[in-house]
Amino acid sequence: MNQSLMESITSPNRINYKRFNPLINLGIMASGKGTNLEAIIKSINKKELDAKINCLIVNNKNCGAKEKADIYGIPCIILDHREFSSREELDRSIVNVFKTYNVELIVMAGWMRIVTPVLINSYLDKIINIHPSLLPSFKGSDAIKQAINSNVKITGCSVHIVTEELDSGEILVQSAIAINPEDNEKSVTTKIQKEEHKILTKGIILAAQKIRG
Ligand code: GRF
Repeated sequence: MNQSLMESITSPNRINYKRFNPLINLGIMASGKGTNLEAIIKSINKKELDAKINCLIVNNKNCGAKEKADIYGIPCIILDHREFSSREELDRSIVNVFKTYNVELIVMAGWMRIVTPVLINSYLDKIINIHPSLLPSFKGSDAIKQAINSNVKITGCSVHIVTEELDSGEILVQSAIAINPEDNEKSVTTKIQKEEHKILTKGIILAAQKIRG
């Protein structure tokens, strides 16, 4: 097949989407630009996702994700990790915020901190993460750089359940893209982010179906 006709492969491609009533109560965690947060907001607005973003937690007060929350009127709580004495103490505050906002499913949409059992066990199987590689390859930070340096020809992104072991929980959905000879870190990042914005909604639906049954 002509490569231009097939820029990515997603699995599962089609999912059996049972609508959610009442809406899924989401809590989002983000550290960066917030393009994934915006993708979730757009899916909700297009009625592709029956969810409500009850609140966003950011750890950087000037991050793009906070700006997007302000634009869309989403409550945003700043929990700056530098002001906490340990990861556990930060996670206790995260749990408190999410419980206060009645959150049932947490989405780590570019949360650049390691989370501890304090958070994971409070929301067991109810936290998902988006990671820029085809897990189980290239876990941890700099996943895109790792893929390019390894000379792989295909990489991608994954939405998975968060467990104690880094980037190792059940994979819910993945999308693959090609690394072509002319590609560099920037172009691969652009291709991956385009896929992330597509698969995150699917990952939320799949995780929510597990919770709601
Ligand atoms: C995404 O590429 C995600 O894979 C990684 O962090 C990035 C966040 O991007 N975990 P954004 O802030 O959603 O634009």
